[in-house]
Amino acid sequence: MDQNLTNLKNEALAMIMEAETTDELEQIRVRYLSKKGKLNNVFAELMETVEDKKQLGQVFNQAKQTLEDTLEDKLGKLSARPDRQEWFDVTQPGLDIPLGHLHPISQAIEEITQIFKGIGFTRVRYPEVDWDWYVFEALNFIKGHPARDDWETYWIDYPPSPKYGEMVLSTHTSNGQVREMERVKKPPIRMLNIAKCYRRQQDVTHVNMFHQFEGLVIDKGINIQNLKGTIDYFAKNYYGPKAKSRIRPYNFPFTEPSFEVDFTCTNCDGKGCKFCKAGWHEVGGAGMVHPDVLKAGNIDSKEYTGFAFGWGIERTYTLKPGLKLDDIRPFYDNQLKFLEQF
Ligand code: FA5
Repeated sequence: MDQNLTNLKNEALAMIMEAETTDELEQIRVRYLSKKGKLNNVFAELMETVEDKKQLGQVFNQAKQTLEDTLEDKLGKLSARPDRQEWFDVTQPGLDIPLGHLHPISQAIEEITQIFKGIGFTRVRYPEVDWDWYVFEALNFIKGHPARDDWETYWIDYPPSPKYGEMVLSTHTSNGQVREMERVKKPPIRMLNIAKCYRRQQDVTHVNMFHQFEGLVIDKGINIQNLKGTIDYFAKNYYGPKAKSRIRPYNFPFTEPSFEVDFTCTNCDGKGCKFCKAGWHEVGGAGMVHPDVLKAGNIDSKEYTGFAFGWGIERTYTLKPGLKLDDIRPFYDNQLKFLEQF
């Protein structure tokens, strides 16, 4: 009598094996496994007649389980093969898959790199977690300088090096200056160092993590005119042919003389508007490399001179024509609505 159930099971198994669509599988399931399906019907009929009902129950349960498992397995295989789905309308419009794009600051980094590559600069990267020596000491920062203060700088809880001092999240890309001198050993040097920088600051023009790009040029006979020419070249290539730059006296411990660098406002072409300070925007610092810094990098300051500049990427980017962004914080808020505009 159990043979009837076994035959039914084999019949259903063969059909499952041969099924080519998920719809066919569903029909098989209804025919054999549903409440009023063949398996239940035959089982009910047999229960009326057989004596060993326990054994019949076991055969029934095993047959049912085997069919369910095989059906499930085949369903998985067919679903993974869209060519076996019964219905596929090739005229239906495709799904609109959202395409991402580079973050605006990554776009800016790419553009800045290309501009400086055009005049022979080499892009390098140096550690963002660096020793006090490269970030401050070799750059002439005196011991009590405010930039070393806990309020500005993130110090790393790590055993200090006897040679290089404590570890710090670099506050600027100038940490690359002495590292580049050590790498190249003998000028000429034309370095473009782009990296993340970290300071304990947060307001409309300051964030804890931001980016700077640092230029360093060292060779025989390098002077302020070369610096000013490079700044102008950048201004015209990044902001357009009408853009101008100016340098103002300032003080950095690692350059002498030192300057602050301004670019004309692209909103009013330098005439003055409510978005700028009388036509100008400050973007960062620059200067002639201090002889002490050349010495720290093992370069003879009697033979070689150099200039350096370091500007904020977020800052320079917000001054692009048409942007009129007066807050850099949204760059890092992960708001797609904001980022999708760039
Ligand atoms: C410096 O960091 C010097 N290392 C620049 C330099 C390099 C001078 C080479 C001379 C020679 P300063 O602290 O002014 O300088 O920062 C430069 C620029 O980085 C600022 O003008 C601003 O554009 C950007 N910046 C500084 N701090 C932040 C911050 N918290 N968030 C966003 N941008 C910042």
